[in-house]
Amino acid sequence: MCGIVGFSGHSDAIHPIIEGLSRLEYRGYDSAGISYQVEGELKILKKEGKLENLKKLIEEIEPSSCIGIGHTRWATHGKVNDLNAHPHANDEFSIVHNGIIENANELREHLKKENFEFKSETDSECFLNLLTLEYKKCSEVKQAILNTFKQVKGNSAFVIIHKSSHLIYAIKKSAPLVCGINENSHEVYVSSDPYALVGFTTQIFFPKDNILCVGDHTNKTHGISFYDIEGAPSKNYTVQEKQMDLNIVSKGRFDHFMHKEIYEQPSLIRHLYDKITEKENLEALYNFRGSDINFIHIIGCGTAYHAGLLIKNFLEKNNRMRVNCEFASEFRYRNPLLKRTEAGLFISQSGETADTLACQELCKDFGLKTVSIVNVEGSTLFRECDANFLIHAGVEIGVASTKAFTQQVLVGYILTCALSEKIDLEEIKQEITSLAQGVEDILSREEEIMAIAREIYQKKGFIFTGRGEQFPIALEGALKLKEIAYVHAEGYASGELKHGPIALFDENMVNIAIVTPDLYDKTISNAQEVKARKGVMVLLGEKDNKELEEISDYYFGIDFAATDQLKPLLSNVFMQLLSYHIAKLKGTDIDKPRNLAKSVTVE
Ligand code: G6P
Repeated sequence: MCGIVGFSGHSDAIHPIIEGLSRLEYRGYDSAGISYQVEGELKILKKEGKLENLKKLIEEIEPSSCIGIGHTRWATHGKVNDLNAHPHANDEFSIVHNGIIENANELREHLKKENFEFKSETDSECFLNLLTLEYKKCSEVKQAILNTFKQVKGNSAFVIIHKSSHLIYAIKKSAPLVCGINENSHEVYVSSDPYALVGFTTQIFFPKDNILCVGDHTNKTHGISFYDIEGAPSKNYTVQEKQMDLNIVSKGRFDHFMHKEIYEQPSLIRHLYDKITEKENLEALYNFRGSDINFIHIIGCGTAYHAGLLIKNFLEKNNRMRVNCEFASEFRYRNPLLKRTEAGLFISQSGETADTLACQELCKDFGLKTVSIVNVEGSTLFRECDANFLIHAGVEIGVASTKAFTQQVLVGYILTCALSEKIDLEEIKQEITSLAQGVEDILSREEEIMAIAREIYQKKGFIFTGRGEQFPIALEGALKLKEIAYVHAEGYASGELKHGPIALFDENMVNIAIVTPDLYDKTISNAQEVKARKGVMVLLGEKDNKELEEISDYYFGIDFAATDQLKPLLSNVFMQLLSYHIAKLKGTDIDKPRNLAKSVTVE
């Protein structure tokens, strides 16, 4: 899940590459590097750690070139160090790679016999050496790339430059890759994400798998040419219709993208209903209603899995459907019982999470209908599923998912309501408007949440609890906190506390408990039990509730009344802001937390 940027043009390549990489750091930040051409020679600068380290090196060296490639890495093969950082280069080529070469060991043995030496532990260097070998055989760069690409197994994207050419080459299989041109300045670009190219390009192309893109800035009519795997010209690509707005790449008045994204939620919520109830979407749903599907497997990872747990509740309640919700990494390896009368529902922000994709493939092989709830249109998941429901969250940059979660749950909710013959969609529309207002209300009370964060951020551990529909929010709240604040946090079902975790409580342990009117008496008893053990009690519950205020050390009341089944999304906004402020007080790197990546394209 690395980030790739390439540039070729008449002017400076370094600035657009570094700017592109800074927008792609969400894809990984174990190391970063660039390679560029100077008078027929390929130079390389690469550094372990975040892009900042590379930027410092660039400031010292002040490289200058009109063609180059850059990479930000999330390590798979080989340790995090300068040597394993990309690009990889030799006297002939520089390459960057995103993905995994599955037959790397086999290729490495073969290449060693051909007297190639390996400088790094990466699988990517196999591609470089194999390409060099193929080039020796045919002396033609394009042909050598195609011959090499045919021999590597697995899902990958590669971008390549040659020491004495102004062309830039890119090819991929089941990995994100886009290319673009600026028709005014005659520049060509490639990247793993169109987001990196916003403001630089005037047109963006999405090549299909196994299509070689060749960028030539001197060709004023066709800046980029496309070829199939046999080298014949191809039209197997799509063109992006809408340009992305430059505002999406800025944090605006916020210090972090995560904070900005939390604040985008009311507006996104308000706009979602109309988009989901478009004719095309409803038709896909009604086909489903008429089918004989009697069981749904909901699959996701991380935050998307938590959204799945909430959607499971909706399907059971509104549609009386039998549903299983599972982590993708578990589902795929346990030989699940799958029947054609079942469907797979895959939830993913990126649409590129390797485990989720593998489960979709598994379901497809067993003849199940596969449906996605996904943010990235055109992602692998989007392309592979029989039907897709977009969550319309816009680009999410913060590694810890916030607005995408809300939109995933909301899409699931609208769909289950539309599927039910008993639910009046007009009422749902009203409930969604109330949700947006409720979120705005919580955002307007951010100071109160900050004050709670200030009181508890130095405590040793945090147990989040909830019951029923709020239980997934306890899990999500704990996940958010550990992701960005690096503290120990666990999500638990309130009723399970006494079966183990209660042993952890003392004055240094915080319980963030959600106590809503459902099962109020039971949940409040669980809170009392913690209080009796001197645990620090943060209670989130119905507003103006005296009892909650008395029991708790810190109480945050929410007006849940108008939101019915969407109450969990309100509690979750509190959790998002609480984690954000705890992390801020701890001084962590909130948008790019250590060891994480936004989209996990390895298994
Ligand atoms: C990573 C991210 C999480 C995300 C999960 C699933 O672990 O750090 O924030 O929830 O992947 O990603 P997806 O793109 O499939 O929703």
